[in-house]
Amino acid sequence: MSVSQALQSRSSCRGFKKDPVEESLLRDIFTTAQRAPSNCNVQPWQVIVVSGGKKDQLKNKLLQDVMQKQKPYPDFNWEVAYEGEHRERQFGSANALYSAMGIAREDKMKRNMAMLRNWQFFDAPHVAIFTMEKYLNIMGAVDMGIYSQTLALLLQEHGISNCMQGALGQFPGPIHEMFDLPESRGVLFGMSFGYADDNADANNAKTTREELESSVLFAS
Ligand SMILES: Cc1cc2nc3c(=O)[nH]c(=O)nc-3n(C[C@H](O)[C@H](O)[C@H](O)COP(=O)(O)O)c2cc1C
Repeated sequence: MSVSQALQSRSSCRGFKKDPVEESLLRDIFTTAQRAPSNCNVQPWQVIVVSGGKKDQLKNKLLQDVMQKQKPYPDFNWEVAYEGEHRERQFGSANALYSAMGIAREDKMKRNMAMLRNWQFFDAPHVAIFTMEKYLNIMGAVDMGIYSQTLALLLQEHGISNCMQGALGQFPGPIHEMFDLPESRGVLFGMSFGYADDNADANNAKTTREELESSVLFAS
């Protein structure tokens, strides 16, 4: 599969089969992802790949934390109130997901239930938690974005679907506790991954993209 094919065929996956990915394949993919570029080659990514019983344990702790605390307390500044066209696109992506799932816009209860699926990792057999030293700030976050998409494309090449999840950076307490993260390190976001369940309604959500000209200026 070419990189172009990987990009054309990908979309965020929010429904997975239970089958885990073979560990040797996972190790190969994560080894290749180490080739991702980063500013001054600092390679800030510290990734925790959680599977099996540990993943179920983390899921339960996260769900409990989300229910109890209600209000997010991220390690990094995730607070952005989207404006104008960004806000429209934000609504567009939510709309694509909720319509695919048959959830009406005003059905707050069902939307909340769908949101909670984030901390259940959408039933994926694996979740990658992306952490980095807090002091790295925006520069580190840029590297982390590049790393995580490198990883996502490698997974896609092997028929493994995924969903990036800012939601997994919103309630970092259980991750700190379970994996004994040093105070200096923060949870930025996460990514559930595994083999897609083609029967999951959520996986019918398709988002659109702007025309090239509205995003890219070719100057010469
Ligand atoms: C940094 C980042 C954070 C995201 N966080 C979430 C999330 O918490 N939950 C979720 O369901 N999707 C999340 N997404 C997926 C986006 O909603 C999705 O990429 C976007 O709507 C475009 O759709 P597509 O990935 O299917 O092309 C995230 C994507 C990125 C890149």
